[in-house]
Amino acid sequence: MEIANRHILITGASRGIGKAFAKMCAEDKANLHLVMRQSDDNLVKELQTAGAKSVSVWESDLSTRQGVDALLNNLKETPIDILFNNAGMLTGGLIEEQPLDDIYKMFQVNVNALVHLTHGLLPGMLERKRGKIINNSSVSAYMHFPCASTYAASKAAVMAFTDCIRMELKDTGVTTLLLVTPGIKTRMFDEIETLYSKNFVIPTESISPAKYAQMIREAILHDIEVLEPSGLTGVGLKIAKFAKPLFDIEVGRRFKRN
Ligand SMILES: NC(=O)c1ccc[n+]([C@@H]2O[C@H](COP(=O)([O-])OP(=O)(O)OC[C@H]3O[C@@H](n4cnc5c(N)ncnc54)[C@H](OP(=O)(O)O)[C@@H]3O)[C@@H](O)[C@H]2O)c1
Repeated sequence: MEIANRHILITGASRGIGKAFAKMCAEDKANLHLVMRQSDDNLVKELQTAGAKSVSVWESDLSTRQGVDALLNNLKETPIDILFNNAGMLTGGLIEEQPLDDIYKMFQVNVNALVHLTHGLLPGMLERKRGKIINNSSVSAYMHFPCASTYAASKAAVMAFTDCIRMELKDTGVTTLLLVTPGIKTRMFDEIETLYSKNFVIPTESISPAKYAQMIREAILHDIEVLEPSGLTGVGLKIAKFAKPLFDIEVGRRFKRN
């Protein structure tokens, strides 16, 4: 699918991958719809200067069902072509030490809001026979580490959800793109160290948000359905998928309970 002139809704556009993707779409002259908890005038100006055809900001907290309902209500008249479900929260640590409130909130943002937005925006796409739903999962959907239990479960849910609707949408003009995202140098990447490192030696390979945004762009333009990492993480992903016992041995070497 082309990016120029399309209406693109990006959740989690305030920073990290979402912001880098918004900048790239601006250069490609798209109409941008940014979902953020707090509006950012500087970012809007930056995107207008970079070439965006239009920029709208929708202030919304995706951690509540009401927040997602209100967002969809505001978008009623907007023909979204590309929905980038990108907003996400990280939880981590030994399961009994993770705060329950954080776990509930994380599933709401990472899974429920993503499903709810898809549910709300898909009918319009089907009517127009045109659309793309991009869901930001993670290598954690397949590479299961200690301390990542709840976050990995959320990303496995995103992976399964996307795969199911990919099949449902065959020949409708609406397509899906599943991002099996590796380490990207964002605030969330830095939080991994804080949350996991007491018990687990985490892999440190990462790429920049700008480079990842370019990879997503290529996947959109060529209608690729799954974007998986290359490099060392790509090798790790293949081992986790196809040689799980080997993967578990390496993981075991990196984990200590106390
Ligand atoms: N970075 C990585 O290594 C990595 C790896 C695999 C997958 N991912 C996935 O990539 C996506 C983007 O992550 P990132 O690395 O760019 O992280 P980030 O820099 O921490 O950005 C997270 C984004 O999500 C938004 N968000 C969080 N809670 C929200 C809520 N309640 N309502 C609305 N927006 C909310 C944040 O908005 P605020 O500014 O309002 O907080 C922010 O824009 C996430 O789904 C993440 O799980 C990242």
